[in-house]
Amino acid sequence: MAAEPTIEALYLEDRTFPPPEEFRRNALIADAKISEEAEADWEGFWAKQARELVSWSTDFDTVLEWKLPFAKWFVGGRLNVSYNCLDRHVEAGRGDRVAYHWEGEPGDTRTITYADLHTEVGKFANVLKSLGVEKGDRVAIYMPMIPELPVAMLACARLGAPHSVVFGGFSSDALRDRINDAEAKVLITADGGNRRGSVFPLKPPADQAIAEAPSIEHVIVVARGKNDVEMVEGRDHWYHELMRDASPDCPPEPMDSEDLLYLLYTSGTTAKPKGIMHTTGGYLTQVAFTHKYVFDLHPDTDVYWCAADIGWVTGHSYIVYGPLANGATSVIYEGTPDTPNRDRLWSIVEKYRVTTLYTAPTAIRTFMKWGPQEPEQHDLSSLRLLGSVGEPINPEAWVWYWQHIGGGRCPVVDTWWQTETGAIMISPLPGVTTLKPGSATFPLPGIAAEVVDEQGNRFEKGGGYLTLTRPWPSMLRGIYRDPERYQETYWSRFAGRYFAGDGAKVDDDGYLWLLGRVDDVMNVSGHRVSTTEVESALVDHQTVAEAAVVGAKDETTGQAIIAFVTLKGGIEHDAAHGEMLREHVAAKIGRFGRPKTIIFTDDLPKTRSGKIMRRLLRDVAEGRDLGDTTTLADPAVVDEIRRRSQTSPTEE
Ligand code: PRX
Repeated sequence: MAAEPTIEALYLEDRTFPPPEEFRRNALIADAKISEEAEADWEGFWAKQARELVSWSTDFDTVLEWKLPFAKWFVGGRLNVSYNCLDRHVEAGRGDRVAYHWEGEPGDTRTITYADLHTEVGKFANVLKSLGVEKGDRVAIYMPMIPELPVAMLACARLGAPHSVVFGGFSSDALRDRINDAEAKVLITADGGNRRGSVFPLKPPADQAIAEAPSIEHVIVVARGKNDVEMVEGRDHWYHELMRDASPDCPPEPMDSEDLLYLLYTSGTTAKPKGIMHTTGGYLTQVAFTHKYVFDLHPDTDVYWCAADIGWVTGHSYIVYGPLANGATSVIYEGTPDTPNRDRLWSIVEKYRVTTLYTAPTAIRTFMKWGPQEPEQHDLSSLRLLGSVGEPINPEAWVWYWQHIGGGRCPVVDTWWQTETGAIMISPLPGVTTLKPGSATFPLPGIAAEVVDEQGNRFEKGGGYLTLTRPWPSMLRGIYRDPERYQETYWSRFAGRYFAGDGAKVDDDGYLWLLGRVDDVMNVSGHRVSTTEVESALVDHQTVAEAAVVGAKDETTGQAIIAFVTLKGGIEHDAAHGEMLREHVAAKIGRFGRPKTIIFTDDLPKTRSGKIMRRLLRDVAEGRDLGDTTTLADPAVVDEIRRRSQTSPTEE
């Protein structure tokens, strides 16, 4: 049966950007050979990467055991992740290389070499041991963006104790639920951290969480915020006191390739968080591979900066494990991009001569809103490659990033992946792929993705559901203690395929364009319209910095498109401006993509990881009471939006 497109492909983007000649000349991958090799034998391809990029104390005997949906990679192999990230670089004489240039929000700095990090991790692993942490015990981590965070993760990996990092912006309830699900024995936290010019407390919410988390035996507290905290005798310990006499000598535990490396909870908006399980050998192989080739890493000369928080998977894979496995020099920044001023990121790029910057579309749209005069104050000529992750990037935001940050010189790699995939899956290879702004382009070598219709039939062209058709080394191994939910959530919608929950379209040249979560797709008079395409059409207008689109119930059309729009700094809006934007969308993608109502707002409700909370906007648009707003970065935004929505004109 022929596949029926299930999401309309409306937005046409025909600008193309081949790799600049100079970039291609020095690129690690400059032709299609590696992709051809991977297609000819994908298991063999991954085995080769595993042996090239990772050091094993015992070689593996079987590349893959696949009993759908359960995979085991590099079976029989033994290795230690912290050995791979630290010891082997020091042993090879690279101990003096900087692992992290760390910058605190108040302006204090630390330069940490691979030798320093190796010593600190060895000591902290011994500290954990002295508190009774053994191989297999779970350790919870709730910390600001300070060097002790990667130290804690690597010390756990050294002992074979899986960590569960809980983002420092989460509430005490979220922390409690995650500790209890994992039955963590130890919690590592800090007194507080710096954010937007003040100290946010971490120990007080941690205390609240622990009051209802009986598995916790010890709490280790890093002194960072210098805010007052209570220390419980016998249970709570200062990091610096425990470290004072600890020995740096701690042999890495040889782990099975399939031993658990970490849990990371994804916070579904409604249901109980899922403890996503990542294991050792396959995970390290794919994060090292993708970090090296997607970011075209030249470890002797590059200064790489992933500006995410380590509390999200992006930070786990591309601040900690990928870059350290590859011996890269990275930047870590503790605070927000507007502290003390809106040029903070650009001052950091200039100061450390950053070559590679990896950030999120939501950040890029914020920079657009603030205007190009911020980056223009700084010398950004060290940059040679830019990356994007976390949401579909609107073509106009892509071009702004390319032009105003990259100086028209740097390829932009739009990387699609998820907490569940562990590592990048769909992305350009910057020395090979001709870029199209807004497209994540093609699956990486060794990865297979297909877009299918409701029945699971594959499309050659058009919009539908994005599925993955083969196991991959860094795939989640399940949901902690809930194999049925794993099967049900990811493998039941289409037989034999992993369904990620995202919509995507394939264009005439076979490029993939992500269309957002399929739950957000709108049905307007029988047309299935993706929120992403309408948002991109709005952001395409020169006055618009950011847009969020939702479908609200409508008697005539089933759903009506409601757009929440933020204009670029200093631009005034009125009803005529709204009309102009509606016409712009109609011209760009057609009349049925035109929003019925446009609500201007100074900000949009977002999670702390920067994703727009469409569920809340739908509630506002349909005049309902708001659901749970606890994960909002700034709850005041919603009240403001509601006020605006009550006074915005709607098309008759
Ligand atoms: O909807 C996709 C979107 O983010 C989801 C995964 O979110 P999370 O597990 O928090 O991981 C974020 C960092 C990897 C995906 O299902 N997403 C992520 N990257 C992109 C994206 N959507 C479009 N384009 C991307 N490059």
